[in-house]
Parts: sequence; structure tokens; C-alpha cells
Amino acid sequence: MSVIPQIEFNDDVLEENGTVAVLVRPSGDLPKGAPAKEVLRRAMKAASWSGNFGKSLEVLVPEGTDYERIVLLGTGKEDAEEADRYARLGGALGSAAGSADAVGVLLGGLSAAQAADFAMGLQLAAYKFDRYKTSENEEENKASTRVSYTLHVADAGAAAVAWESAKAIADGAMLARDLVNEPANVLTPKNFAKRLKKLREFGCKVTVLDGGDMKELKMGALLGVSQGSRNPPRMVIMEWMGGKKGDAPVAFVGKGVTFDTGGISIKPSASMEDMKGDMGGAAAVSGLMHAVAARKAKANVIGCVALVENMPDGNAQRPGDIVTSMSGQTIEIINTDAEGRLVLADALWHTNKSYRPCAMVNLATLTGAILVALGNYHAGLFSNDDTVAEGLLEAGLSTNERVWRMPLGKDYDKLIDTKNADMKNTGGRMAGSITAAQFLQRFVEDTPWAHLDVAGTAMGSPKTEISTGWASGFGVRLLNRYVTDNFEG
Ligand code: BES
Ligand code: MN
Ligand code: ZN
Repeated sequence: MSVIPQIEFNDDVLEENGTVAVLVRPSGDLPKGAPAKEVLRRAMKAASWSGNFGKSLEVLVPEGTDYERIVLLGTGKEDAEEADRYARLGGALGSAAGSADAVGVLLGGLSAAQAADFAMGLQLAAYKFDRYKTSENEEENKASTRVSYTLHVADAGAAAVAWESAKAIADGAMLARDLVNEPANVLTPKNFAKRLKKLREFGCKVTVLDGGDMKELKMGALLGVSQGSRNPPRMVIMEWMGGKKGDAPVAFVGKGVTFDTGGISIKPSASMEDMKGDMGGAAAVSGLMHAVAARKAKANVIGCVALVENMPDGNAQRPGDIVTSMSGQTIEIINTDAEGRLVLADALWHTNKSYRPCAMVNLATLTGAILVALGNYHAGLFSNDDTVAEGLLEAGLSTNERVWRMPLGKDYDKLIDTKNADMKNTGGRMAGSITAAQFLQRFVEDTPWAHLDVAGTAMGSPKTEISTGWASGFGVRLLNRYVTDNFEG
């Protein structure tokens, strides 16, 4: 059952019925206004419950009150390193409160920003991809699953304002999750582009290039990947110019392979269904553009997603083929399954030439090798610029969408040289994530740039306090923070 939280802020006293949740510090100190303190103290003691981070304790029909339930939620020690702690606490409350009709939440001394983060976690944790579960989409089921949350906080007005921005970010992350979850028979490049046109409602300029446009632009690397598919490619460019006129924008570029069979170098069938998520980079860029436009960010931001399907077919590209990229550089195809870098080569070149960004960050579910190196807990970060790299590392720590920097260098770059063309699209068995990054670097010239390999984080992600898993929406909150901290105000 899908629960849709309806969130409001209030500084009035609690209603004295239904379900109430109370944030509790590990000292066991109950916040001002907490009901039935004596009963709660006894319950905490009896259960040896001491307010550890994210842990909850439920007290049913507490004596001397009209409440059905009081849920205690531990905040953990204030000084403990809990990245993104308030969003995660909000998520933890969502699971603890379940499907109660209405929940009053005593947030104690949280600031407006922390309360908005809490609300964001509550919202993100409730996300479910159940569009194709027919019984759950019947009207009577829908109506019964709205849970109204009233968050009690000192300055409710300020919290509501902070929530407007936080909600834009949460909606962006959920857009990214939807795109990653959506199956490839529905989410074709054309359908993906159509969905992005909706961003025009928020004042985002959206331009869609089709195969003909890309042919004119000589995007031979991207078109080579796409030529084996019945679903034609698209490139979507989103522009949000909320910053100073004339300031160079920051640009984000996403790999959007709506399905990756591997092409003629076909993948084994085990788990191939996961390759519907091979557009996780494009999903993150789309979610970010939603977030910055919906919250009216004071920054100039470009988003570019390259959308293709990688299929085997009578017209598919072959190993040994040589293609000419938009940059003029030629590429020998060794493995048609190393398609993401081919698509990005033209998308990066085009974005760099058209917008002259002050910094450019691409996201891609690029290599299985990054999963071997970092598992599901960090995205691989590759960069030619320490300032960009540090900005992303910082943003990763504060949003808990963590990245880990990997090396680039001449010796790795040599591994993609070939006698037959300017470069080849694979570098052999060793350092697979790095040679992929070296390939991309050949298409960004001197622009400060970073590549995030999100193969282990945007899809197949573990369950957390704020995500039910698989499609995490990874990257939206990270990039949004990176924009806020480095390009706004
Ligand atoms: N989309 C895959 C990478 C991937 C693997 C994403 C697992 C998510 C989970 C990419 O296009 C790919 O196939 N990469 C190859 C490159 C190789 C042929 C050089 C890989 O990683 O095996
Ligand atoms: Mn592939
Ligand atoms: Zn791929």
C-alpha cells in the first residue's frame, strides 16, 4: 500500500487525540509540550530505550491521555556524525507511523531548515513505484492512504517557506526515481523527451533535438549507438537562467540509455532487466532541472540528456566499426556494450561548444567496474579540476549522496589509443572505470569538468531511511546542493 504524506507546519499546541510523534534526545529529555511525560519516561525505561538515532518506541493508548499512540523517535547525539540526519529522521518516522490517518509531530527545537529537511525525508521515504499495480490504483485504495502530518515547530511560517524549496528538491528526486523505474517499453527516448517538456511549466526552456538534427550536427558517436534501435534518439537541452545575465552557466550532462542490451556485444541475460535503469544519469540531470526551476534557483544551469537505446539489429553497429564524433575525433568500436561513453562524447562536446559553461559535470551509469571498486555506497568521481571535485565531495557529504575521487592520468589515457583511429572505446580489462573516464575527458577540452560514475548508486541501490531501494534518485540532492553552495547568491 502506498502512503501519501500531506505535510503542514504549525506552531499551535497539539491536538489531544490520534497519533503523536515526539523527537527525543538521547538524554531522554522530552521536548516542551510533550504529553504524558511520566508515562513516557516509564516506557523508555521499561524498554531500555535511550533515543538512539532513528530508533523508535511506540506507546499504545497511554494512560491519562486521549491519544491512540505516542511514537518516540530518537535523534541520537547532536555531535554524532550523522550526515543528512534530519531527512533520515523524517524517513524513519514515516515507517514508524505507518498508515495512521493523522500524525502530529513535535519537532522540539528544530530550525526551519531542519524541519524542512525532516519533511523531505518523510516525503522521500513514502515513495513507491506502484503505477502498474492495478489493484492499488483503484479509487477506494487511493483515498485511504493519505496520511496528514502536522509538524510542530517554533517558527512554522519560516518552516513552510523552507519546505517550498525542499519540496522542489524532493519532487526532483522522485521524478528521477520514476524515470529509472519506468520500463523501457514505455520510457523510450521519445517518451523521455516528452516528459521533460513538462518542465516548461516551471519556466525552464526545453529544446529537443531529433536524429535529423543530430545528423546535421555530425554526432556520429551517439548515432552509431542508436542505429540498431527502432526507437529513434533524442537529445534534450534544458535551460534554467535564474542567475545573473551574462554569467556563464554550470552544465550537467546525463547518459540516457533507455535500455542497454549491449548491442552486438550482447550482455548475458541474467539481470539484463536492470538495464532499463541505464538512463540513471539522465534521470538525475532531469530531476535536478526540476528542482532548480521549481525552487527558482538564483543560478544559470544547463541540463543536457542524451537519449538512445542500445539494441542488436541488422543495422546495429559492429565491433571494428570506426565512427567520427562531433568533435572530429575518430573512434574504433571494440565493444558495442561500451556505449555510454560514445553517447556522452557528443553530448559533452555539444554542451561545451554551445554554452561555454564555467563548469561541466556529467553523470552516467557507465561501468560495472565502479561497482567492483566502490559497491553501492559511493559514486566514482573523476575530475580535471580540484575545485569542482571538492565542491562535489562536500555536497556529497552533506546530502549523504557520497562520491569518492578516483585518479586520471596519462598512463591510463594511453590505454585507449589504437592504431586504427584516434581512440578506441574500451581500454581492456584493467582499470575499466578509469579508462572510461579518460575517454570522456578527451571531449571536454580545458573546461573544468567532473564525471560521476553512478552505475552502483543510481540503480540497484540498497534500502535506506529515505529510499525503499533500487531507484534511489541518486544525484538530484547532491547536484542541487552543489549548485546552491557554489553558484547561487
Ligand atoms: N550500462 C553499463 C554499465 C553498468 C553495469 C551499469 C552494471 C549498471 C550496472 C555499460 O554500458 C556497460 O555495459 N559497460 C561495460 C563496459 C565494458 C564493455 C568496457 C561494462 O562495465 O562491462
Ligand atoms: Mn553497455
Ligand atoms: Zn550502458
